Amino acid sequence: MLKDKVAMVTGAAQGIGYAISEEFAIQGANVVLTDYNPNVIDAAKDLDKKYDGKIIGLVLNVMKTDSIVDGLNKIIDTYGKLDYAVNNAGGGVLKPFAELTDDDFDKTINLDLRGTFLCMREEIKVFLKQGYGSIVNAGALGSIYNPGGMGAYNAAKNGIMGMTQAAAVDYAENNIRVNCVAPGLTKTPLNDGGFLEKILPTVPMKRYETAAEVAKVYVFVASEATFMTGQTILSDGGVSVGLK
Ligand SMILES: NC(=O)c1ccc[n+]([C@@H]2O[C@H](COP(=O)([O-])OP(=O)(O)OC[C@H]3O[C@@H](n4cnc5c(N)ncnc54)[C@H](O)[C@@H]3O)[C@@H](O)[C@H]2O)c1
Repeated sequence: MLKDKVAMVTGAAQGIGYAISEEFAIQGANVVLTDYNPNVIDAAKDLDKKYDGKIIGLVLNVMKTDSIVDGLNKIIDTYGKLDYAVNNAGGGVLKPFAELTDDDFDKTINLDLRGTFLCMREEIKVFLKQGYGSIVNAGALGSIYNPGGMGAYNAAKNGIMGMTQAAAVDYAENNIRVNCVAPGLTKTPLNDGGFLEKILPTVPMKRYETAAEVAKVYVFVASEATFMTGQTILSDGGVSVGLK
């Protein structure tokens, strides 16, 4: 279905980013898995063996403009274009508000909010040149709903929601869509620490989301939702609409 399309995903060495990359591959796209962890190269090789598209890995740090520009140049050199960019890399320090140190706050904002901003800015430049493109950012349940202990993470993810809206309006007439997907409780290496177990009872569907489930939402929003822009789509098992 997405044969001849080119997708890039940040933070793709593991977790949700890897699952998004695999879903693009399942749908026939060429995929560029990027991550600051060099393991991304082998992760991409594994997918390339299984699927028809040309799938490569690139080391790319979303906190460094040079690294992002370098990565985008390599993508254009290799494929001649970029159709979809998923800014998935993220994470953050989860602590009650008054316990967050300056460093905790800066780390979270720098990775999530600033990292997403830098990627979006450089991707939009590429999309303006080629005349089209679609961006999907990673929000979180914590973009709008707080189970507690999310002072810095919530600020960053809420900010990503705002930047998504702002960029969507700026470039709607340029054939560039910008949206955000907010995953629910998804078991990945990010949240090994028992945090999810505590809040699982508040999820109306009473189970975790799988990375493969939310990956389908990302790919749909990136590729098929062609009149949707500026939106944050929650895939959260019902958390945002009620407690049960
Ligand atoms: N897992 C959940 O329950 C959940 C829920 C809501 C939102 N999210 C969001 O989904 C995204 C992915 O989460 P995950 O659970 O797969 O996390 P994860 O920690 O399993 O994976 C994150 C990936 O990002 C990479 N990364 C970190 N810093 C980077 C940088 N500076 N440059 C490039 N890559 C970098 C890591 O190496 C890792 O491969 C994050 O933005 C997270 O906030 C996750």
